[in-house]
Amino acid sequence: KDCAVKIAVVGTGYVGLVTGTCLAESGNDVICVDNNEKKVQTLNEGRLPIYEPGLLELVQRNRKEARLSFTTDLQSAVRQSRLTFIAVGTPQSDDGDADLSAVWAVAKAIALALKDVPPGPPGSRVVVVKSTVPVGTNARVAQILAENGCPHVDAASNPEFLKEGAAIDDFMKPDRVVVGVRKPEVAEALRELYTPFLRTERPFLAMTPESSEMTKYVANAMLATKISFINEMANLCDKLSADINDVRRGIGHDQRIGFQFLFPGPGYGGSCFPKDIRAILGMGRKVGQPLGMMQAVDDVNEAQKQVLFQKVRAHFGDDLKGKTVAVWGLAFKPRTDDVREAPALVLIDSLLAHGAAVRVHDPEAMENVRATYGDKLIYCDQPYGTLEGADALAIVTEWQHFRTPDFEVMRRLLRTPVIFDGRNIYDQKVMDQFGFTYYAIGRGKRK
Ligand code: UDX
Repeated sequence: KDCAVKIAVVGTGYVGLVTGTCLAESGNDVICVDNNEKKVQTLNEGRLPIYEPGLLELVQRNRKEARLSFTTDLQSAVRQSRLTFIAVGTPQSDDGDADLSAVWAVAKAIALALKDVPPGPPGSRVVVVKSTVPVGTNARVAQILAENGCPHVDAASNPEFLKEGAAIDDFMKPDRVVVGVRKPEVAEALRELYTPFLRTERPFLAMTPESSEMTKYVANAMLATKISFINEMANLCDKLSADINDVRRGIGHDQRIGFQFLFPGPGYGGSCFPKDIRAILGMGRKVGQPLGMMQAVDDVNEAQKQVLFQKVRAHFGDDLKGKTVAVWGLAFKPRTDDVREAPALVLIDSLLAHGAAVRVHDPEAMENVRATYGDKLIYCDQPYGTLEGADALAIVTEWQHFRTPDFEVMRRLLRTPVIFDGRNIYDQKVMDQFGFTYYAIGRGKRK
């Protein structure tokens, strides 16, 4: 216990909760802070406000072993801690830029908590920004600390690269850890903290806060670009009767290209890519640097979210009154209950607007969808339940159990055997064998 680092994590959203819990798991004393009393209460009762595989068990164990606690008292948590992580939300504001008001407020609150604490040597008190923030934010946080009586407190940047649904693994076995620091002592403090996670030759990369902040955006920009790229190619395949699955294989063996993150689909969603692409566009605008490619990535993605509906319309025509469509998968991707910017919602809106009845199923995200749509949709606990009397099935999220269903049962339940597959999870031959009319993304079989 002697060498345990005392850590405060402000913000118990997705990133804060995973960060705090994993840092407790590696032996540190972690206090997670949130100003939302209900959230803190939920966590103190040993329950989670979000769904993430493996997280509940870790939270419960570390609470029991007294390395992890939750509070609304920021001041006390920060005063006890050597490192304070800022992991509050940076939502997209109306003009598309990241809304940083929560970051500024927390930075100031930290300064006020620490201003009468006697200064120690460099690296003895560090504020670490985990939230995804535009380049220059860290410098501003340092300034806020200095202006509010804490010139002795250091600010560092430490972006996260966590994937929802695999966040624990991503934290425990990161491909790399990136930190942005101005002093070697601060780099050392963070290197020590992350050493338990870097056992397998994973690099710890220290750079300036600006480069570190930029790294996060460039990573997500590259990944989003891959998706919009393959989606554009898939749409062309559709028109030219080529099959993107074969094309994927054809290009992926070239090691400069590879196979990863090149799956066509109904467009990317979630809390990161859409927001971060718009934020990087905003950064470019502010400094007079046009980002034509990023604009195209965003435009292609917006259009891609309409592709499934266009296929429905091409099949059934404009008027969907009297038609019922089943939708499998509502979360923006499997293994999460997150429906932020989910392509399924865009499809559902179009279906409803054209008069269709919509029966939906998702193993985790139904409550989140019900919160917005109420009784406009029919919610089914089982995937097969959605098919009763439906004229077609649309698959929007590739949950594992959708991959090998009983096609015989599906055929029997559907009024007409039509499948719009937004994730290319079925084989055309099998579809033919069971007599389905099958539309996929970029498989070129039907227009
Ligand atoms: C992403 C980044 O991967 C992560 O490093 C960053 O920290 C946050 O943003 P996440 O939003 O959890 O993580 O989801 P991810 O698994 O990356 O998927 C994003 C979206 O892209 C999903 O909608 C997914 O369906 C879509 N996608 C992904 C594709 O359409 N095709 C692909 O090949 C890969």
